[in-house]
Amino acid sequence: MTTVDLRSDTVTMPTPEMRRAMAETPLGDDVFGDDPTVNQLEEVAAARLGKEAAVFLPSGTMGNVIGVAVNTSPGEEMIADAEAHVFLYEGAGAATISGVQIRPVATEAGVMTPAQIEAALRPRDDFHQPITAAVSFEDTHNRHGGVVWPLDDLRAASQAARSNGLRVHLDGARIFNASVASGTDVADIAACGDTVTFCLSKGLGCPAGSMFCGSAEAVEQARRWRKRLGGAMRQAGVIAATGLIALETMVDRLAEDHSNARTLAEGLAELPGVHCDLARVQTNLVFIDLDRMTASRFEEECRKLGLLGGATGPHRVRFVTHYGITAGDIQSALRICEDVLSA
Ligand SMILES: Cc1ncc(COP(=O)(O)O)c(C=O)c1O
Repeated sequence: MTTVDLRSDTVTMPTPEMRRAMAETPLGDDVFGDDPTVNQLEEVAAARLGKEAAVFLPSGTMGNVIGVAVNTSPGEEMIADAEAHVFLYEGAGAATISGVQIRPVATEAGVMTPAQIEAALRPRDDFHQPITAAVSFEDTHNRHGGVVWPLDDLRAASQAARSNGLRVHLDGARIFNASVASGTDVADIAACGDTVTFCLSKGLGCPAGSMFCGSAEAVEQARRWRKRLGGAMRQAGVIAATGLIALETMVDRLAEDHSNARTLAEGLAELPGVHCDLARVQTNLVFIDLDRMTASRFEEECRKLGLLGGATGPHRVRFVTHYGITAGDIQSALRICEDVLSA
């Protein structure tokens, strides 16, 4: 039985070109700044995002943890969406590593309005309260269904934050999905953040790695934090080589993942007892809500028939399309879901 693995876009395997580059790319000790492949990737990533500098990190989580650290000081507060990765899934890194409290703000589809930002600001003259130092945005927004922030909304939110003296971190784990889906230059999206993290290890297909981008000063601080967190690696060019190939060859093809996600979502929405908010299926994530079965039971029954997805709530399941998943796999996935739901 072949398995269709739609648990996450992190399950992608490196392309043959990536594997060759891993074997052949020139290497050095990156902690000494000597790895030419890492240095090249950092230059390419910074240029692509329109930032002064970039640093290569082992993961997106480390990128966000560092994003909190460089944009705040202990005892301060960072505003973030109540469904944001930085709030829900980073082991309270903001609190434990930076001594920073996250102020969760419930939003409609992950898009924070200027009014919501302004309402969440702490009064500066009240010493009982923490100082609001920064805000973090997530684009695409994972738990809101992979939605893309309309660029004007992101600009307005960023402008509202900055005009109130806040620094802006952008969790762009899937920023290239946002760029491809909306036809927006990634640098225009990145311009809305003072610091921006994006992942190479998701839809772009690399085995590991994320980039943290920003001003030369922010990236210098990020390097210190990376070292402190134990994330400075030696011949990291073995991985960085895949990042260079990803940025050259794997960005445009994300459109295929989006189209597969749409076919999957439309097919699922037709099945009895399945709700899918098709308006939110804008990129490679598909969330469904089930009337007749728990998500864990559905996940288990699908697994038995060769389809992997992930329960993200009692009745909510997430499927993620990615490199390696074909239109034929989507049809198989739909057949399996239908069988499970009609059994
Ligand atoms: C929106 C978002 N931010 C950050 C991350 C963290 O990335 P990593 O798994 O590389 O730590 C993820 C991973 O799923 C994510 O979805």
